[in-house]
Amino acid sequence: MNDIQSQIISRGQTTLADISKTNTLSDLEQIRVSVLGKKGTLSEALKTLGTVPAEERPKIGALANEWKAKIEGALETKKSELEAKEIEASLGKTKIDVSLPGRRPHMGALHPITQTIKKVSEVLGRIGFDVTVGPEAETDFLNFEAANIPKDHPARDMQDTFFLGPGVVLRSHTTAVQMRAMRGKTWPIRILCPGAVYRADNDATHSPMFHQIEGLWVDKKVSMSDLKGVLGFFAKELFGADAKIRLRPSYFAFVEPGAEVDVSCAICAGRNPKCSVCKGTGWLEILGAGMVHPRLFEYAGYKSDEISGFAFGMGVERIAMLLHDIPDLRLMFQGDQRFLKQLR
Ligand code: DAH
Repeated sequence: MNDIQSQIISRGQTTLADISKTNTLSDLEQIRVSVLGKKGTLSEALKTLGTVPAEERPKIGALANEWKAKIEGALETKKSELEAKEIEASLGKTKIDVSLPGRRPHMGALHPITQTIKKVSEVLGRIGFDVTVGPEAETDFLNFEAANIPKDHPARDMQDTFFLGPGVVLRSHTTAVQMRAMRGKTWPIRILCPGAVYRADNDATHSPMFHQIEGLWVDKKVSMSDLKGVLGFFAKELFGADAKIRLRPSYFAFVEPGAEVDVSCAICAGRNPKCSVCKGTGWLEILGAGMVHPRLFEYAGYKSDEISGFAFGMGVERIAMLLHDIPDLRLMFQGDQRFLKQLR
């Protein structure tokens, strides 16, 4: 037996002994590299093969392969053994409690604005109001002219309008839908028009985009007392059986007479002079209303001496804020889950 042969055998034996003593996968890998790797001891020994006589070489080659296979086998066996141990150990550490309840899937909810539109539509739907909608990009004519707000009318200043192009605006109020509805069909009409409206205004109480619900009832002999009856019913259904309304004279170009409508304060009923909601007045303004101006009927092609009608318009955010005691309008548009979750 020559030098190389005895070297292969003795290295092989030590390697097998080392493998059997190893306790970790990383040590095992180190052994593999140090023996079988490119610069490993077995590979290095074989590099000296050139120094032995040619007829000896096949024998040495076979011996080297035999030991290489032995070592590889031992490495493989030890590797599976150590891996199994590792799994065993990690199972002991991480206990899974199969009796724990599962994670609930996250449930979304309707936005408070959508909830409020649905609620108002449902309440007034019970007394015959149908929901109808119109476009948010509206003609200047239907948004202003046909609502009796001609060019140069001071009422245009009250609604800082976004202009999209000549004769086209982002509608500044849902009153625009009244005229679309009247031009689209003949009376009687009893409709609600919810939707987004736009004005160049942005602070704690104004948003450039907000929502309104317009109401319109046109028929023979519709009177101001019908308006009071409908709004009184609406207030009780929304704010509770004790809710009362009052009408204060006001001006809107598209109604005559016009009124601002207040609902009694549900928080203090006027008894707390320091009430943060009604400021001690006992009343909260909730909408504008009035008897449809005869000029609108003319624009619609109706004979204004045959019929009459009332209209009202409310801010949806304002109603939602009163219903849920929401202090800041901007909360509605931030999409903060902590806020939205409270109003499911
Ligand atoms: N269009 C008005 C606004 O945006 C609200 C309004 C007031 C609507 C009186 C009406 C009404 O139908 O009769 O401020």
